[in-house]
Amino acid sequence: NEIYLHGLADQVPPFTVDTTKLADSAREILQPGPYWYVQGGAGSGATMRANREAFDKWRIVPRMLRDATARDVSTSVLGTTMPAPVLLAPIGVQSIVHEEGELATARAAGSLGVPMILSTASSNTIEDVAVANGGGPRWFQLYWPNDPDLCVSILSRAAKAGFTTLVVTLDTWTLAWRPNDLDQSYLPFLRGTGTAIPFSDPVFRSGLAVAPEQDIPAAVLKWIPLFTGTDRNWDALPFLREHWDGPIVLKGIQHVDDARRAADAGMDGIVVSNHGGRQVDGAVASLDVLPEIATAVGDRMTVLFDSGIRTGADIFKAIALGAKAILLGRPFVWGLAHGGEDGVRQVVRSLLAELDLTIALSGHHSIAELTPDSLTRVA
Ligand code: FNR
Repeated sequence: NEIYLHGLADQVPPFTVDTTKLADSAREILQPGPYWYVQGGAGSGATMRANREAFDKWRIVPRMLRDATARDVSTSVLGTTMPAPVLLAPIGVQSIVHEEGELATARAAGSLGVPMILSTASSNTIEDVAVANGGGPRWFQLYWPNDPDLCVSILSRAAKAGFTTLVVTLDTWTLAWRPNDLDQSYLPFLRGTGTAIPFSDPVFRSGLAVAPEQDIPAAVLKWIPLFTGTDRNWDALPFLREHWDGPIVLKGIQHVDDARRAADAGMDGIVVSNHGGRQVDGAVASLDVLPEIATAVGDRMTVLFDSGIRTGADIFKAIALGAKAILLGRPFVWGLAHGGEDGVRQVVRSLLAELDLTIALSGHHSIAELTPDSLTRVA
């Protein structure tokens, strides 16, 4: 009804609800630095393109006369209930695209009950984001620092601020070759961003001669070795268990043996992800490895998915191929760029509506009914 009424009422939303066009519309309003920070991928962009092409290899096969008027797409993942199998992916330094940064995202997510995953590289502090998120569900993403004291400090702040699940990103122990980042300078945009989480952490600050707000390059130079160059391996995981009481999810898994290893290590979940094609250029598309991984470990742990989700149909396909829920990445950041809190809400609401209609029109009533049989492979 809303769709028909909108068309008849001569009302148009502030920016497009076509989530496949969001990057182009955001390009018109952002400066090249922020635009490329979000849009850029590693190397030639081959993996970014592959992430999208992988969805086209699968098609939904609609079923008829199944009365799908009553349906429910809500779900529960690792003890977190959510209106649809969608979480907002951890995205760093969101204030590059909008001055309210993660605070706006947290408000939008909280108002919809959609879980947000806060990045370690957030431009706002853990505590401020928690307040903005209110009673909304929230998870915390860890870039695992080399300094154990700093790690414990960040984890304890997150737990105290009501973040329930820990998402540990494994694929970014150093930044990839990202030509777009070298072609642009972020410093002018980073200057306004204030308090990234490590910068605001008392353990981190105690190691600096000058406050990071006054000398961002010095703070970044201190930050980089702390969060990169680690020689950590699978034996390090018990440390996290020791310092985190809730569920732990490993993000960036692409090989079925790594998925098995995560399950053997007693992890609660994984995110099948290639970081939106921002790390290994030429890497396999994330959706291409999902079915094998979900089949291998789906009964032992929670399998989540990201990299390339742009439409409700994409969410449908990822769930049908074995993900319990998906992480939405770049699209909500474009919404943030367009309209802050309202912009994030518009993008997320559009996607949830499209998912709901796709489920209904293909003859399903709930996400539990989505299986590989709901799809056919065409390439
Ligand atoms: C990311 N991603 C990311 N992941 C993470 O664990 N911590 C982080 O701080 C960031 N930061 C970040 C910034 C930007 C601008 C992007 C686009 C991505 C990766 C993110 O969580 C997710 O894996 C990808 O965004 C998924 O790919 P798509 O769907 O956005 O293409």
